[in-house]
Parts: sequence; structure tokens; C-alpha cells
Amino acid sequence: MNLHPDQPIGIFDSGVGGLTVAHAIKQLLPNEKLIYFGDTAHLPYGDKSKDAIVHYSSDIGKFLLNKGCKVVLMACNSASAVAYKEINKQVGEQTIVLNVIDPVVEYIADNFKQGKIGVIGTKATINSGAYEYRIKEIRDDLKVVALATPLFVPMIEEGFIFDNISNSIIQAYLSNEILNKINALILGCTHYPIIKNQINKYFNFEVEILDSSKIVADKLKFLLQVEELINPQQQPEHEFYVSDYTQHFNKIAKMFFEEPIRLLKANLWE
Ligand code: DGL
Repeated sequence: MNLHPDQPIGIFDSGVGGLTVAHAIKQLLPNEKLIYFGDTAHLPYGDKSKDAIVHYSSDIGKFLLNKGCKVVLMACNSASAVAYKEINKQVGEQTIVLNVIDPVVEYIADNFKQGKIGVIGTKATINSGAYEYRIKEIRDDLKVVALATPLFVPMIEEGFIFDNISNSIIQAYLSNEILNKINALILGCTHYPIIKNQINKYFNFEVEILDSSKIVADKLKFLLQVEELINPQQQPEHEFYVSDYTQHFNKIAKMFFEEPIRLLKANLWE
């Protein structure tokens, strides 16, 4: 692998939710140029089969590689859960491939002495068992329970965030007895940081809520430092692509990235 600090960082998700991760990276690594791809034409990944998710992720991985990215970060839990191995096999010799699950698993292994950990995410992520499996691999003393909460994504995208509808849906899912007496809850979906405060409130601030965007950004910074790939340049111009463009995506992108951005259409499958 012959990578250079001035190459961009590629980030992809099924839609605009991965912008929560892009935002955390921008905050921590302000000199890095980001190239983001949201596969809005195939959203949601959470309800798709493994084959479909691998197929889309693989094409996006190649797109980011062709854009000269030194890193391809899968900022989507569903893709990370079912397609990481395949994508790493396909482009991992030419670029660094990262997923959003392993850094969280490592964080838990290093920071939790004992206890019960809950995971919430899409059906694809939860049905894959990726979090339980990977945590058990390194810390089989921890109890891990997982719950699919598929309504959270459309709820957030429709702007139901601080109201009775979101509170009712949050209450309906999180009161599931499987989550009784958890010590920490992993937000296993890149949309969920948007409702982190409400989830915190639901648990009376007694449960540690693990938001992968910050943990993943820290891990990326660490890796770039080790590989001497930190970009010293100033003021990068980021690029944001979506496979299907609508005004709605443009509007909600701002909520995830915390500043207005210009989405460009790039349909890799046309
Ligand atoms: N961003 C996806 C994830 O993190 C959720 C949205 C979807 O289902 O595509 O799993």
C-alpha cells in the first residue's frame, strides 16, 4: 500500500445518516478532505439482504478507491455488519478499510469491567449478530443483548425528534424487557446519535449511551497517526455525493452534518 497524507478520506452510508460520523471526523481532523457517498437510491440497507448490501457496498468501495481515498470508512452499521469482510477483501490491499462496529467493540472491551450491554440497530445489523459475536470474541464475560428498532430511522428522517411521537416510539422500543438493567447501550446505527439526548433521558441518565461517531473518529485519528497519514494541509473542500437526489435529502443532510452542504448526484448503477 502506497498511501499519502494528502489523499482524501472516503466515507459511505446507505443515506445521509453516516454524516454524523463525517461530522465527528471533521471536528477531530479538520485538515482532512472528506469524500462522502450516500446510497440514497437503495436506502434503507437495514431491510435488505446481505447479498444486496455487499453488492452496493462493493461498488461504492471501488468508487471511493477511484477517487484516490486513503481510507474507505463504512459509516453504516448495516453494511459494517454484513459486508466488511468482502469489502476489505476487494479494496483492502489498496486502501485502509474501516467499519463502525470494531472500534466500538474495542472501546467496550477496554472500558467495561463487567455488566450487561444493550445494542439497538436496524434489522440487518441486529439479525447479523455482529455486535454480540464480536464482543463475545474478546470479552465473553460481558452479557450482550440486542434489539432491532427499525422505526427510528424513518422517524428521525421525518423530523420526529423532540415530540410526543418520538417519545412514544422510544418508550415502546426501549421498555422491552430484554433491555432491563443494562449498564450501557450501543447506538448501532449512524442515524441514532440524533436522538441520543432523548434516549439518555429515557434511561434517566443512568445508562452509558455509546455513540459510535466519536469513537470511530478517535480510532481513525489513531490509525492515521500510526501510519503517518495525517494531512497537514489547511481548508479542505469536501465532496458529498448521493445516488439519488431529492430536496428532502439535502434538507436532512444539514441535521446530520450540522451545517449546510451541497449534495451532488452520482448514480453508480445507471
Ligand atoms: N445508516 C444505516 C445504519 O447505520 C441505517 C439506515 C438504513 O437502514 O439504511 O445501519
